[in-house]
Amino acid sequence: MNGDIACIGAGYIGGPTMAVIAKMNPGRRVLVVDINAERIAAWNSDNLPVYEPGLDEVVKACRGKNLFFSTDIAGAIKACDMIFVGVNTPTKTFGEGAGYASDLQYWEASARTIAQEANGDKIVVEKSTLPVRTADAMAEVLHTHPEHTFTVLSNPEFLAEGSAITDLLNPDRVLIGGPQTARGRAAVRALVEVYAAWVPRRRIVTTNVWSSELSKLAANAMLAQRISSVNALSALCEATGADIAEVARVMGMDRRIGDKFLRAGPGFGGSCFKKDVLNLVYLCRSYGLEAEADYWEGVIRMNEEQQRRIVARTVKALFNTLANKRIALFGFAFKANTGDTRETPALAVANLLDAERAQLVVTDPKALGNARRDLAHLPHVALEPDPYAAAADADAILVMTEWPCYRELDWGRVYASMRKPALIFDTRNLLDHEALRRIGFRVLAVGRP
Ligand SMILES: NC(=O)c1ccc[n+]([C@@H]2O[C@H](COP(=O)([O-])OP(=O)(O)OC[C@H]3O[C@@H](n4cnc5c(N)ncnc54)[C@H](O)[C@@H]3O)[C@@H](O)[C@H]2O)c1
Repeated sequence: MNGDIACIGAGYIGGPTMAVIAKMNPGRRVLVVDINAERIAAWNSDNLPVYEPGLDEVVKACRGKNLFFSTDIAGAIKACDMIFVGVNTPTKTFGEGAGYASDLQYWEASARTIAQEANGDKIVVEKSTLPVRTADAMAEVLHTHPEHTFTVLSNPEFLAEGSAITDLLNPDRVLIGGPQTARGRAAVRALVEVYAAWVPRRRIVTTNVWSSELSKLAANAMLAQRISSVNALSALCEATGADIAEVARVMGMDRRIGDKFLRAGPGFGGSCFKKDVLNLVYLCRSYGLEAEADYWEGVIRMNEEQQRRIVARTVKALFNTLANKRIALFGFAFKANTGDTRETPALAVANLLDAERAQLVVTDPKALGNARRDLAHLPHVALEPDPYAAAADADAILVMTEWPCYRELDWGRVYASMRKPALIFDTRNLLDHEALRRIGFRVLAVGRP
């Protein structure tokens, strides 16, 4: 074992995770490879393909020393005994399980490449989020080349985008699942060593492979369920005169509940929650657990309902017609501190507003590049980096992402440039609503009377 590490897949997970592993293991070489040459070029440039606070510093400190980005997948497989696979596993859009199951074609392609290029025994680490029992299928694919031994471990990633570097440097836990055999236990020990370079041992949890695969889906399902629960309560608050911020505070003070992830808003987004919950639904159904599948599917339905309700309330507040009204979306990223727009609630809201024939203008400090791609089907939507210019002549502003910079805007100036009556719908409950009302805005919020 030379201790060097390869990672197939240089995305939101592969890039930051490997950068931190390289930083904390200066004695190991870490080779990050991808089929996407453009992405690799970006990792080798000053303009990294992923925006994460603190990522630039970590990459710059290690790149060219013990951290390398390239498209030489075969070379990386040959050079390293431990190979992480962090390729995308999106929801299937075709065939059996379409709309629910994970599309494992990229994972399987990676496994086949590893089998083909391997020059010795390899430890293959599932970093991608995968359905339970995928490791079995992968082991089978890998063993099509029986001259070498492949040990498949599960090491799901729990970082949150927007805080990836701090999450990686200080994780709540690192989870490693491995086969309960002598070879499996040795592979687990080798992977524990990588993380033990900076993570206290008590936070490194080892389990069997199936528990590890399921724990990742389960953790995301529980987090998504909290968001859907608090959003369901926000609708009831609006109807009754209760205030979701007050209700959430009271709930959160109960130590059995805890105060995290209890913010009402436009619903969860990001590449993981929806796909992982759908995958759980699919798994339940494939084991004949219909009631359990329906239960988890409700989490997704509630999320979509929240976006529908935001648009319905906007229509109502603007005198039941949005036709030709200019509406500015403040924020398009699925949350603050990331440029990622996958499954962003802002896109669902943009589609619904467009169906009402509103004229949309979108602003965001980091996500306009992705927004341009996501909104290509709505060519008349304007993209505007400057929030003041986006607001000018607008009838309404919908705050879709909780970017702290929106708190600092000169809202008097924004108000003066808008058509009157000027509406602001703060779907993140980010701004000071009383101050906005004093300026003259009509203010809508989530879960508040
Ligand atoms: N994004 C997150 O916050 C997050 C968190 C935890 C887990 N995950 C999981 O991590 C995995 C990756 O997610 P991501 O957000 O980094 O995806 P991503 O799409 O940003 O990155 C995946 C990369 O894999 C590359 N790739 C695909 N097939 C390949 C192949 N055969 N050979 C080489 N490279 C290949 C793609 O070109 C792409 O650059 C997913 O399973 C996801 O569920 C993501």
